[in-house]
Amino acid sequence: MAGLKPGTVLSLLTGLGNGYDLAAAGDAPLLLGGGVGVPPLYLLAKELRAQNKAVRVILGFNTKEEIFYENEFRALSCQVTVTTVDGSYGIKGFVTDALPRDYSYFYTCGPLPMLKSVYRSTKTSGEFSLEERMGCGFGACMGCSMKVKDLSGKSPDGIIFKRVCKEGPVFKKEELLWED
Ligand code: FES
Repeated sequence: MAGLKPGTVLSLLTGLGNGYDLAAAGDAPLLLGGGVGVPPLYLLAKELRAQNKAVRVILGFNTKEEIFYENEFRALSCQVTVTTVDGSYGIKGFVTDALPRDYSYFYTCGPLPMLKSVYRSTKTSGEFSLEERMGCGFGACMGCSMKVKDLSGKSPDGIIFKRVCKEGPVFKKEELLWED
């Protein structure tokens, strides 16, 4: 897409699935992004800053050369921490090695091992933007279904299936079954 010329006509479906719940943020939300999971958090940070929230951001990368968007988040007056696995910039380690003591809620997007580590390490509620192999992308093929806890209490065994493309990609921490 970066190579497309202005005026090129595309056929695409957009605005699919859900998004982060801004109303849950509280006063001091924490955003945790890893690699390609960083850009979705930028729009979220913009919206939270527009509501005057004190936004903290932790960005995780493998190495200094991969870092991007640090300055863009700083320009929004977010408090930004960068971690690198090899220690070439910022805090050495993973985003979970830089968790602050206090935050009201969290939002995260990134590779699955990072998300599971965030799940285990965070003390508050929060939201995870997930990825899954997708066939159709709009809820028809069921190929992206995953088991989650039924927060409505209607399912007899407490478990339901949700489609990542349709009912996701954002799931609340309380829904995920990663510890079971
Ligand atoms: S990709 Fe087809 S239902 Fe989600």
